[in-house]
Amino acid sequence: EGKLPPQYSTGDPTSFAYPTARERWPVIITNAIDDAYRSVSDCEDAEKRDEGKKIIEELAKLKYEVQHDRELTPIRDDGYPDVALYNRELEQLGNPTWLNVPWLYSECYLFRRMSTSFSLSKHWKGYDVFARQKIKTFRSSRNAVLELAARYRDLVTKMRETTASPDPEAEKLLFMEMCEICLWGNATDLSLLTSLTYEDIQKLQGSEARKNSEKNILVNDLPAAYELLLKAKSEKPRGERQVDIVLDNAGFELFVDLVLAGYLLSAGLATTVVLHPKSIPWFVSDVLPSDFATLLNALASPRHFYETPSEEDELQNKTPTPLTEQEVGELSFLFSEWSTFHAEGQLMLRPNRFWTHPGSFWRLPHEDKNLFEDLKASELVVFKGDLNYRKLTGDAKWDPTTKFTEAIGPLGPGSGVNVLALRTCKADVVVGLKPGEDEKLRQMEGGGGDTGARKWAWNGKWAVVSFSKGA
Ligand code: F6P
Ligand code: MG
Repeated sequence: EGKLPPQYSTGDPTSFAYPTARERWPVIITNAIDDAYRSVSDCEDAEKRDEGKKIIEELAKLKYEVQHDRELTPIRDDGYPDVALYNRELEQLGNPTWLNVPWLYSECYLFRRMSTSFSLSKHWKGYDVFARQKIKTFRSSRNAVLELAARYRDLVTKMRETTASPDPEAEKLLFMEMCEICLWGNATDLSLLTSLTYEDIQKLQGSEARKNSEKNILVNDLPAAYELLLKAKSEKPRGERQVDIVLDNAGFELFVDLVLAGYLLSAGLATTVVLHPKSIPWFVSDVLPSDFATLLNALASPRHFYETPSEEDELQNKTPTPLTEQEVGELSFLFSEWSTFHAEGQLMLRPNRFWTHPGSFWRLPHEDKNLFEDLKASELVVFKGDLNYRKLTGDAKWDPTTKFTEAIGPLGPGSGVNVLALRTCKADVVVGLKPGEDEKLRQMEGGGGDTGARKWAWNGKWAVVSFSKGA
């Protein structure tokens, strides 16, 4: 990471890190406490309940430490080797305090630290303190899910029936559209929910919204990525061609990731798709293996998932609108497609603790050689979302006209990894822009103006799709 510019810090008033640490983290921890509290109250086993109370106290203490700008303390050893990585770096940073510490490190530390309270317990190991929130938002994205399910069935059915020779231009457009669906699915992560309403979210998810958003993609390298997959297909029509997706959020975003994965397999643009989830509850909404199972179960029993009243429904005496026969059919179609791909090993889930390490992806080649080799063997590695982009670029203060290929350092050209980042902007770092573009965006309403802050890049309204060829 020697060549990285300075990183964004929670002490910098012009960075999104600043309000994040002061306003958003306390809310995130409070929500976690509320969730744990509910589970503790429902708990019959006295020993488990007591342990749960202790966890709640630890979370409350953590919140206090953040709000009172205390030092970050070493992570307790819960048996995983990354504890040493976290603690070594903490020392190197000179035992910083919460409100003046590199953003990337401290935010990863926050979630790693929360997870130790659970992993060090006897009864709460593996408990996902964000699961309730994830399920609730996924249910609320019902309209967008149904719209895409209909579209997907139609598309895959047509792809199978068509014998006529394909129209290359139409096929390319379809690829771009699938990737754009997958991109915008990221606009709605839960860590931003502290400022967005469910209504805002639904507006962001429909097909109309997507058309309107195309002009908001500031860099769009999808044609180059498509070229690459087509070339691989023509060179090894019967050979193994793997695409990897480094996942971001569960629920609706995972749903659109599966739309993309399923499409790539059905269109023969890939023969296997490997999905990379997280291993601990992460940045509130990130995918754990259990979220994948939850999603497939929801599709397997759509009536049960969408028609059972939630606790909120019950409080307000509401019953969810029943699904139509056709909608059930469309969701069942997805289930049968995706579970078949999964059962046949064409769609795989491959967790790795590297994804929850504190550092940037510049460290991949020496931190996890096996994973690095795996990614080199892939035709294309798709990195979803904001955090992955921050990690690719080291969350550093690059000039925004820096080339993406330069900003990703050791994963750039020559690395052997073909990188495609699908990122809606929810943080400060951005590269690959045309000269003058950042300045122009700052002058737009809410763009940050002359405050020195790149506010336009904080809310998921703008996106960058950047490609780097590994050869
Ligand atoms: O809004 C900022 C933020 O909380 C960042 O801390 C983080 O990078 C991001 O959101 C999480 O977004 P995503 O789920 O797209 O990675
Ligand atoms: Mg996320």
